[in-house]
Amino acid sequence: MSAPRPFRHRHLLDISGLDPRDIVQVLDTAEVFFEVSRRPVRKVPTLRGKTVINLFYEASTRTRTSFELAGKRLSADVVNISTATSSVKKGETLLDTVRTLEAMRPDVVVVRHPASGAPHFIADRLSCSIVNAGDGLHAHPTQALLDAFIVRRRLGTLSGLTVTICGDVKHSRVARSNAELFQAFGSKVRFVGPRTLLPPNAESLGVEVFDRLAPALEGANVVMVLRIQQERLEGAHLPSLREYSRTFGINERTLAAAPPEAIVMHPGPMNRGVEIDAKVADGPRSVVLDQVEAGVAVRMAILYQLAGEAGTAPAA
Ligand code: CP
Repeated sequence: MSAPRPFRHRHLLDISGLDPRDIVQVLDTAEVFFEVSRRPVRKVPTLRGKTVINLFYEASTRTRTSFELAGKRLSADVVNISTATSSVKKGETLLDTVRTLEAMRPDVVVVRHPASGAPHFIADRLSCSIVNAGDGLHAHPTQALLDAFIVRRRLGTLSGLTVTICGDVKHSRVARSNAELFQAFGSKVRFVGPRTLLPPNAESLGVEVFDRLAPALEGANVVMVLRIQQERLEGAHLPSLREYSRTFGINERTLAAAPPEAIVMHPGPMNRGVEIDAKVADGPRSVVLDQVEAGVAVRMAILYQLAGEAGTAPAA
């Protein structure tokens, strides 16, 4: 890849801030880093001398680990801060915490926070780049980008597809970011789940809404299964998990309503036996572990676009 155009953004806060050209630029760059990550030596000097801080106020396995690996494979100095062992435990505010970190001159702060809008709040007040690693119910842009990376690799396009997003859409920042991304490329997005787990304004997002699984899976190219977020379920959204699984769970029987070539995605972590059956999760149509692998390459691409020298090639 030669003479890439400079990325037009200082931060990555949500998908709606990107246009399709920006998204393609990230995905094309991620293709280079995907190959780097499959080499025997999975490291390039691209971000030598740069500093990335991962600041996670919520639990994470995939996002946090892949941002750490992404920074390290680019030769950046990477620091991980867990709120459980930081001065957040002593009552330090978000603003004081990020100002403290800024004083140590990072180039990028990656933040996950339970409050929607927290990364925007930080971006308005700090001079370094901010990456949203998931904020409340609002957005998870790097997840949508890695999902798009896998869909483009598997299906050859992001346009003209039907993407069915199943389950707890109401509490899902992944669903919102993916809906924005796929619609930006002219794909159709469907939400399906019990009414109590669908956002009240779902139709206004431009998606088709279904309350039965089979018609929502008909003609789908992508079946994106969401985790039932038991930690965010307040009150009786569901009669029971067993009832949910019987009606909306993706298993070999329910998946028969989708075309045989449809791929099955899940952002993880999965509740096996609730929203997805183990035979599907581990079966030939599942791309769940491909999504995890793509997460490192896509996050390398994002760190490179935000902190790399404009006009340089992404890998040596
Ligand atoms: N998909 C995702 O965000 O997973 P983690 O919570 O493990 O980061």
